[in-house]
Amino acid sequence: MSDRLKATAIAPSNIAFIKYWGNADSRRNIPFNNSISMNLSAARTRTTIEFDPSFTGDTLIIDGRPITGAARARVSRHLDHIRALAPTDLYARVVSENNFPMGTGIASSAAAFAALSMAGTAALNIDLDERQMTELARLGSGSAARSIPDGYVELKAGGGHTTAFAYTLYAPNYWNLRDIVVIVSREEKPVGSSEGHLAAETSSHFATRLAELPTRLKAVRQAIRNRDIEALGEAIEEDAISLHVVAMTSRPPIYYWAPATIRLIHAVQAWRRDGLPVYFTLDAGPNVHLICEAKHETDVLARLADIDDVLETLVSQPAEGARLTEAHLF
Ligand code: DP6
Repeated sequence: MSDRLKATAIAPSNIAFIKYWGNADSRRNIPFNNSISMNLSAARTRTTIEFDPSFTGDTLIIDGRPITGAARARVSRHLDHIRALAPTDLYARVVSENNFPMGTGIASSAAAFAALSMAGTAALNIDLDERQMTELARLGSGSAARSIPDGYVELKAGGGHTTAFAYTLYAPNYWNLRDIVVIVSREEKPVGSSEGHLAAETSSHFATRLAELPTRLKAVRQAIRNRDIEALGEAIEEDAISLHVVAMTSRPPIYYWAPATIRLIHAVQAWRRDGLPVYFTLDAGPNVHLICEAKHETDVLARLADIDDVLETLVSQPAEGARLTEAHLF
């Protein structure tokens, strides 16, 4: 046992090809459906946690700023899960840094809760295997489970806590894809994913989405296995639109798109008609993720440079999952 109860971990964000939308058990983030994602090399969170008997409460610092309110309460709830495993009642100081801008529609909760789970358990010398670590991360944020294993990852819906876990489908170097996040709006989204998950079941399209998913999940696994960008692209666009149809028909409806979102979708369709194999996916926000093979990255970026709506782009390749680190560098 080390003298100081302190550890640092780095975790990537991830982009879902098949989205997680809706919880069978929202208290424990047990999803209704399996999801498949790719870890993102350019969107990472580094978190250092220290537990100490002198602390009188949990503190949270993100990108140098002390955080209170709902965000800190959510982190404290996750720390409670970690403390229960030790067990201990020590409070913690959590210091996180993102190497990407927050509130840009990048699923920062995925990287955050993956890093928190890994650093928190290490600091308290709790020994979990990878599968157990994904289950723990899932309690903090469903998509965080997918940021623990390497590369292309599937999160199982499962019936209970120990059957809803994530695992690597393919290593990062299996297929050299690119995810280009196109930031078209920096506004804080009005409705977070947590509320979207809760509302999903109120949409009459939700049952249709669930019924379609086994076939689409199979198509995505097969497309990655065959490194077939066309098959992957068709399936991910279909899945993203299906999520947004559910969101837009939930009660009350949730509209995540900005005018620039649909302009980007039209542009991508036009580029494909020109012979450029690039596809879009959308999370719970207005920004667009473009998926293409590495060899088409330059061409896609050149076309994006001509579009006024584009505020910023962030290019990722498939990345490894969460890791403990000694270094204080990304
Ligand atoms: C649309 O697991 O990130 O990105 O932590 O409550 O925000 P919260 O939920 P989260 O939901 C992910 C929703 C999604 C789709 C996905 O990543 O699968």
